[in-house]
Amino acid sequence: MNIRNEIVGINTEVPCLDGQNRKYVFLDNAASTPAFKCVLKCVEDFAPWYSAVHRGTGFKSLLATELFDSSHEIAGEFVGADLSTNTVIFVKNTTEAVNKLSARFNFSSGDIVVTTSMEHHSNDLPWRKYAKVIHVGTTEDGHLDLPNLKDVLKQFGKRIKLVAINGASNISGFINPYHEIAEWTHAVGAKIFLDAAQLAPHREINILPDGDKRHIDFIAYSAHKMYAPFGVGVLIGPKTFFETGAPDVVGGGTVDIVTLDEV
Ligand SMILES: Cc1ncc(COP(=O)(O)O)c(C=O)c1O
Repeated sequence: MNIRNEIVGINTEVPCLDGQNRKYVFLDNAASTPAFKCVLKCVEDFAPWYSAVHRGTGFKSLLATELFDSSHEIAGEFVGADLSTNTVIFVKNTTEAVNKLSARFNFSSGDIVVTTSMEHHSNDLPWRKYAKVIHVGTTEDGHLDLPNLKDVLKQFGKRIKLVAINGASNISGFINPYHEIAEWTHAVGAKIFLDAAQLAPHREINILPDGDKRHIDFIAYSAHKMYAPFGVGVLIGPKTFFETGAPDVVGGGTVDIVTLDEV
């Protein structure tokens, strides 16, 4: 496949400071990628069939529901998630995924989230809202300081509820050894969250079976960094984790039954 030809808008001209129009050369794919033609075509092909999801019994509604549900499965299988035990939640992007996860974690006072100084602020600020955050540093060349991480895990042990790290850095492109980090994290009884916003577009990911010591408990990624800029991201994690607690958003698809007195 000629990938260049697949990019929507590859030949678009833009006005330059000298008043001339020139073909746009886009080098900021780490921020957001343009759409692929095949992705746009999928959306267009589906548009005539689009109808109410999870709230209709007509043919189009059933078809749209089927596609909506199966797209969750595709997003989960993309990272090797076991969908009998894990759920795939559609969100707007990785930022919303981290905010949702942090709000839902139900931290107690004194609980610690370990993150790093090589994170995007989307994988830092949402944790600061609800827990004490410890930042593991980097080496001089910008890699994650793994001995420092091990020290922090050793020092704070059971107080650590979560280690939240990126799979690949948006600053350096360095890839973290996240399966090894998962093993160290599980050894102190904590869970691991992988911010895969930059990893998912570039590397195959397998979060491994649930019981594996190197399993990734929670993962998020954004479609707008993967040639599908239509406002979707995913958060994947254990079904049991998301079954309890009140929904972040009430109304709409989150209710079974509503009366004047009860929901
Ligand atoms: C490593 C990393 N994490 C999280 C984000 C946030 O992603 P989004 O803008 O899709 O919410 C970005 C965005 O650049 C990123 O590079």
